[in-house]
Amino acid sequence: MKEDWNSIEQFARSLLQEAAENIKSSLYDSITINTKSNENDLVTNKDEEIEKFFYEKIKKKFPNHYLLGEEGKGDELNQVNGIVWILDPIDGTMNFVHQKRNFAISLGIYENGIGKMGFILDVIHNELYFAKKGEGAYLNDQEISPLKNIVLEEAIVAVNAIWLTKNRYLNHEKLGKLIKKVRGSRSYGSAAIEMVYVAMGRIDAYITPRLSPWDFAAGKIIVEELGGICTTLKNEELSILKKSSVLVSNSSIQKDLITDYIEFFQ
Ligand code: IPD
Ligand code: CA
Ligand code: CA
Repeated sequence: MKEDWNSIEQFARSLLQEAAENIKSSLYDSITINTKSNENDLVTNKDEEIEKFFYEKIKKKFPNHYLLGEEGKGDELNQVNGIVWILDPIDGTMNFVHQKRNFAISLGIYENGIGKMGFILDVIHNELYFAKKGEGAYLNDQEISPLKNIVLEEAIVAVNAIWLTKNRYLNHEKLGKLIKKVRGSRSYGSAAIEMVYVAMGRIDAYITPRLSPWDFAAGKIIVEELGGICTTLKNEELSILKKSSVLVSNSSIQKDLITDYIEFFQ
């Protein structure tokens, strides 16, 4: 059956808007905060409510589509066949809880493992980043220009400061050399936002040792549509079924990053 991608896109847009209104209108209500893998890995009742909202609406409209979501309200998947919506209902939950800003809804739609449409909605700034594979990328209704080549000395790199201390994932000394080499470093606390910032050329690379498919599924489609590259830190292809390290980069500096500055131990 041939899919009607236009109607899938319009439906996804309406769900994103409804979810964002819900989050904004209850931003200062009291929330229940729980922890997951460790005491800094937060989840709130809002994350779960938004994921459930997407799951129920998608199943009703497209019963044969799947939803892979962070909070386990969707389907359990061990294969990529068919249409899979990959959702992080709130990416940047720590920012959501502590700052009430700098978090996003991240939604990637894949067909047989191939990214077709990516949406990242920066809820508080009302910025919807969107790409349709092969048909361009947009920030709200403004088309985004493809990335231009840059040099490392003028790059801004996003990395969490924790990886510049001794750790079991990354060679922190090599990373320290990179931070001295580049023009600047940043950390925003939302993988989705960091990915679209690379896509926009606001930063030039994002380096992180451990993300899940819902963190990168949408961002990958948007970044690649603009000529950027998303791989593991060992330059392998990302899988939407597996957790992995992630390097998101302007293509002109990707090889230098991998060969000279990133040593991933896992
Ligand atoms: C997290 C954020 C954070 C990244 C973590 C993610 P969450 O997602 O994207 O920036 O460093 O690895 O798990 O838990 O806020 O959805
Ligand atoms: Ca996330
Ligand atoms: Ca999340």
